[in-house]
Amino acid sequence: MDVFEAINGRRSIRQFTSEDVPDGDLMRILDSATKAPSAGNCQPWEFVVVKDPATKQRLARAALGQQFVAEAPVVIVVCANIPRTSSRYGRRGANLYAIQDTAAAAQNIHLAAFALGYGTCWVGAFDDEEVSKVIGSPEEIKPVAIIPLGKPAESPAPPPRLPLEKIVHRNSF
Ligand SMILES: Cc1cc2nc3c(=O)[nH]c(=O)nc-3n(C[C@H](O)[C@H](O)[C@H](O)COP(=O)(O)O)c2cc1C
Repeated sequence: MDVFEAINGRRSIRQFTSEDVPDGDLMRILDSATKAPSAGNCQPWEFVVVKDPATKQRLARAALGQQFVAEAPVVIVVCANIPRTSSRYGRRGANLYAIQDTAAAAQNIHLAAFALGYGTCWVGAFDDEEVSKVIGSPEEIKPVAIIPLGKPAESPAPPPRLPLEKIVHRNSF
């Protein structure tokens, strides 16, 4: 699959089959995440892979009751290790680069998963403190995205995008 097929074909998936995700596929997806660019190559990402049903259920509750999170066979909590970047880039590293880098890694997860036949959804609506508590992460580790992952049990139509004419500015805004 070429990159445009993956970019255009990926959709947010919120219904999954119960089929497990073999570790080989999971590691290939996470390895793709680590190929994202990062400021100064600091690589601030951390990944918590959750398969335990009770923990997934707690994550769904922390994600403001988004039950489909618990229904995926695997849930990846993508976190930013803030000191890994702020030690080099200070406040800009903490507030911007570490989050941008981790978001880029998360996008690679979505695309790699799609290329391997899996569905994912970027879940960003959650209680940060509650998620940290569920995954047992220390204060300097910030959860950035919860990504349920599994074989898709739906094929939603692509939601519309803003037309390029509206958002592309040539030479000045
Ligand atoms: C930062 C961010 C947060 C999001 N949070 C949620 C969420 O909490 N729950 C959800 O169902 N979808 C969430 N989404 C998915 C968007 O709704 C989805 O990407 C958008 O509607 C476009 O659909 P597509 O991903 O199929 O292209 C989030 C996406 C992003 C990038």
